[in-house]
Amino acid sequence: MLSAERNRMLTQVDPGTPMGDLLRRYWQPIGGASEFDSKSVKAIRLLGEDLTLYKDLSGTFGLVDRHCTHRRADLSYGFVEQKGLRCNYHGWCFDELGHCIEQPYDDHTNPNDRRREKCAVKAYPVKEVAGLLWAYMGPLPAPELPIWEPFTWQNGFREIAISHVPCNWFQCQENSCDPVHFEWMHDNWSIRLKGKTGPYSPTHLQLKFEEFPYGFIYKRIREGGGDQDTNWTTGRVALWPNGFYLSSHFEWRVPVDDENTLSVTWFYMRVPKGREPYVQNTVPTWYAPVTDAHGQWITSHVMNQDFVAWVGQGRIADRTKEVLSGGDVGISMIRNRFFSEIDLIKTGADPKGTIRDPEAARCVELPCQQKQVLIDGIELGEYPKYPLLNQRLSGFRHLAGQPPEVRNAFVDAFGLER
Ligand code: FES
Ligand SMILES: [Fe+2]
Repeated sequence: MLSAERNRMLTQVDPGTPMGDLLRRYWQPIGGASEFDSKSVKAIRLLGEDLTLYKDLSGTFGLVDRHCTHRRADLSYGFVEQKGLRCNYHGWCFDELGHCIEQPYDDHTNPNDRRREKCAVKAYPVKEVAGLLWAYMGPLPAPELPIWEPFTWQNGFREIAISHVPCNWFQCQENSCDPVHFEWMHDNWSIRLKGKTGPYSPTHLQLKFEEFPYGFIYKRIREGGGDQDTNWTTGRVALWPNGFYLSSHFEWRVPVDDENTLSVTWFYMRVPKGREPYVQNTVPTWYAPVTDAHGQWITSHVMNQDFVAWVGQGRIADRTKEVLSGGDVGISMIRNRFFSEIDLIKTGADPKGTIRDPEAARCVELPCQQKQVLIDGIELGEYPKYPLLNQRLSGFRHLAGQPPEVRNAFVDAFGLER
C-alpha cells in the first residue's frame, strides 16, 4: 500500500513531475522506422507532450512540437521537404533541431531580418536502432542509447508490434516483475477461456528477485521444475526503467500521458539452420488492436491478457487500496528503486542504467535463456524440444492482429508451408 502522494510520484509523467523528469533521462522507443515507408509525418503524444514525428525527404527523422511557433498550426499536417518539416499554414520550415530554416514571405520581403532565429520549435533527438525509433526528451547532453545485444543478432526475423493501452504506464511496468501472474493470467485463464475447467498449470513454489545494473531479475521454480531450469538459473528481466526482456523479445511501456501507455514490442526469431543467410531489409511494424469489433477486450493472446489486467486496475491504479503479498517482493523493490532514483537525479547525478561511454553502449548483454539457440539457430526438426519457440511456428500468440503479410514473410523466412 502506498500513500496517495507516493502513488502520484510513481505515476505522473508531465514535464516537471519527479517521475516525468526521471523517465526523460532515458531513450524511449516510440515507433517503428518502417511506419515511415508509407507516410512521412504523424502526431504522437509522449510523456504528456503533444509532438510531431516526421521523416524528411533526405531520410532524417525529427520529433518536434505539435504546434508551429508562428500561429500554432498543427505541424502533424505539415509536409516534409528535402530538409525539415514545413508548416502547411504559411510555409515556415523547421529542421530536426527545431531551427526555423525558412519563413518564405519574410525571407523574401526582409531577408536580413534575424527574427527567424527566435522562432525555433521544441525538438528532441531521434535515433533509429534495430528498426525502432527512439526519442530522448531529457536534459542534454543525451546519454548513450544502449544497443541491447539481441539487436546485434543476425539471421533473425524481427517485427515490431505496438498497442495503445488506456491506463497509466506504471501498472504495466509492475507486471514486468510479477512472475505468479503467468500461472493464472496466461496459463490457467487460457484453460478456462477454452471452456475447460482443468487441470490447472504447475503452481509456483519458489521466487527470487535480484537487482543488476540494467534492472531486476526474477527467478522461479514451478511444480515439476527444478533448480536447473533456466527460469531459475537465468530468470527474466524487468528492464530498467520501463521495459521487460524475455530472451527473444522486448516489451516497453512508454507513457503517453498519465492515463495512456504505448506498448512497444520488438520480437526476434532466428531462422532455422540451413535458411541462412537471412537478411531483413526492413523490420515490419504493425499496430495490435486491444478491443474486438464489439468493443470487448481481446483475451485470446498473451499480451492482450496482460492488457486486460492493466486496464482493469483503473486508469491510474489506486495503490492506497492494495494489499501486497509475498509474490510482490519484486514490485516493492522496483518502487523503492524509483523513489531513490527520483531523489538521486535532484543531486545532478545520472540515474541507474545510464551509459555515457559509447564503447560500453555498443553491445549491452542481458541475462538470456537459451541464448546460444537464439544466436546459432536449430534445425526445424528440433523445435518441438523448445516449446516457446515451437509455438511461434504455428502462429503469433503474443498479440492479436498480426497482419497476414507479416505472417507470410515469417513463414517464408522459416521455410514453412503457407
Ligand atoms: S502557423 Fe505555421 S507557418 Fe503560420
Ligand atoms: Fe503477462
